[in-house]
Amino acid sequence: MKKLIIALLFALPGLSMAAAPGVPLEKAGIDLRDQSSLQRGAQLFVNYCMGCHSVQYQRYNRMGRDIGLSDDQVRDNLMFVGDRIGDTMTIAMPKADAASWFGTPPPDLSVVSRSRGVDWLYSYLKGFYIDESRPFGMNNAVFPDVGMPHALWELEGLKRGITETVIDADGNESSKVVGYEMVKPGKLSAVEYDQAARDLTNFLAYTGEPVKLQRQQLGIWVLLFLGVLFIFAYLLKKEYWRDIH
Ligand code: HEC
Repeated sequence: MKKLIIALLFALPGLSMAAAPGVPLEKAGIDLRDQSSLQRGAQLFVNYCMGCHSVQYQRYNRMGRDIGLSDDQVRDNLMFVGDRIGDTMTIAMPKADAASWFGTPPPDLSVVSRSRGVDWLYSYLKGFYIDESRPFGMNNAVFPDVGMPHALWELEGLKRGITETVIDADGNESSKVVGYEMVKPGKLSAVEYDQAARDLTNFLAYTGEPVKLQRQQLGIWVLLFLGVLFIFAYLLKKEYWRDIH
């Protein structure tokens, strides 16, 4: 048994190294309690992402309530013609067409914050750079050869990747993006774009687990309840054992 445990411990670092991404990820630094950030994220999402991506497990009215918007505000700002307030946030793009346009159909993003992690998402939104060899002229540092165009290029601008050639242990050469150089500035400054990427990541983190905030609040009540229950359970135990000791 001891040997087995030691063997497992030695195997652990290997596992975590195998999962390490090529480019270091930036910390997303999101705050799920920040409702104005969630509202900005939702706005960016419906304007720039929902042309291609659905969040099919999310309903407009539920989302509105969770991020602090009334049904009317959601209707006026986040919905397009044809949707009703109780509808799920689906899209009309046929999967087969999408697959032929982009190589891969745009996946539903309901739970992408959990499959990829929030730091990955934030870095992905900041990782697009010019690469003429790609169909849309863009590549991504954290998702090499991605099939998605840079949906936020008007906001961020276009940047060139500064690459470095790396040679791995087997002598294979590959190039790795180590930094960026802005070629055509966008509507937002670098700081504003970071915030936009953070807001979008925050929104996707919220859709990945809409009950997270409630769950944490509930957890506090459960602990308080257990604390009070402990006092009574202890008193009861004393009562039961009183005549025995
Ligand atoms: C023009 C269509 C289009 C738009 C607009 C678009 N995407 Fe995509 N997106 C795609 C496609 C296609 C893929 C699949 C890429 C692949 O697998 O190579 C993708 C993949 C992704 C992924 C990776 C999912 C995964 O786990 O593999 C994320 C995250 C993502 N998009 C987020 C966004 C966000 C956020 C926006 C809005 C800012 C956005 N996308 C706008 C087409 C689009």
